[in-house]
Amino acid sequence: MNDTFLKACRGEKVPYTPIWIMRQAGRYLPQYRAVRGRADFLTMCRTPELAAEVTIQPIDILGVDAAILFSDILIPCAAMGQGLEFHEGKGPLLSPAIRDAETVKKLSVPDPEDTMRYVMDTIRLLRKELANRVPLIGFAGAPFTTATYMIEGGTSKNFLNTKRMIFESPELYASFMDKVTSTITEYLKAQISAGAQAVQIFDTWGGIFSPADFREYALSYVQRIIKDLKNWMKSERDETVPIIYFVGETAGLLGEIKTSGADVYGVDWRINIDDALKRLGNDAVVQGNLDPLSMFLPKDKIEVKVKDVLKRASSAKGHIFNLGHGVVPETSPENVIALVEMVHRLSKK
Ligand code: CP3
Repeated sequence: MNDTFLKACRGEKVPYTPIWIMRQAGRYLPQYRAVRGRADFLTMCRTPELAAEVTIQPIDILGVDAAILFSDILIPCAAMGQGLEFHEGKGPLLSPAIRDAETVKKLSVPDPEDTMRYVMDTIRLLRKELANRVPLIGFAGAPFTTATYMIEGGTSKNFLNTKRMIFESPELYASFMDKVTSTITEYLKAQISAGAQAVQIFDTWGGIFSPADFREYALSYVQRIIKDLKNWMKSERDETVPIIYFVGETAGLLGEIKTSGADVYGVDWRINIDDALKRLGNDAVVQGNLDPLSMFLPKDKIEVKVKDVLKRASSAKGHIFNLGHGVVPETSPENVIALVEMVHRLSKK
């Protein structure tokens, strides 16, 4: 198997810097849009054959060093009992919005093999179809980021309802987060049991907090998940899989993030990766951190930026190249193919 990604996650020596791209299976690829033309997004997530097909597309097309399960961080919200819909151009809609003790009480902590079996079936199918070409990354939203969608009922600009619940009804928030955290913990265990070889926890909206509030209202729940997963892997499995923690708007929160217990820290592009390493420590393994919109530069200018990231990350114990956030739908696949080639060529030892 091409195990450069897993080796880099563990801080082991690698012949070149591995790369995968957040949202690598998505609308910027015409091959994805062709499948998407036949099925809506949730049907794709719920049909293992379709989800597996689009998971593998970027492996064939881009030559990346890891596959990421095609699914969505909002799938567990539906499993907990909230209505979930995706509408063209509007993003996700969750109903009813979770705003009071009544709605929290109605949510369940589901058995993932029961309510989200199709995700685990997709993972089992992918491990067969990938046949050890590259490792498979599973994922979930972090409890806080997941909770913002559940409380707001969808995407939000200023997270008013979420912060109001946190600041006006901290006990309600804590009881809600307890359910979300247990759900996500069990979900990640089920993904690992089904064959996920690494997992990433997406805390896309963690950056809306001050460091102290981030620690209390977002990070504490991630620490609980990681501790639980690591204890479980040690006691019930022979192998531990690497855990990656990605937070959006990382720069002000690195001191907090390094206490998460994760094996790999995602770093967005708002900070130079060597400065991030100074805060995380040189024994840290980092993932990132090219601005996703730098994919709109001409290729020679992309190459300058790739060299810069590689050089700045060279003192890290491990580096997995990635964009600082998801690739946007307007991106030219040709430039992403070129990016993967550049990272491999320029980092070759
Ligand atoms: O990385 C991958 O390729 C794996 C698949 C993946 C998707 N979503 C597929 C998707 C992953 C890892 C996600 C995570 C996700 N989903 C996050 C965290 C990552 C991040 O970008 O910060 C968040 C916040 C979501 C929630 C979500 N899903 C929103 C707000 C939307 C609608 C906005 C949009 O881009 O349309 C989605 C839909 C979604 N998830 C699509 C894909 C490919 C587009 C659906 C389509 O084809 O119409």
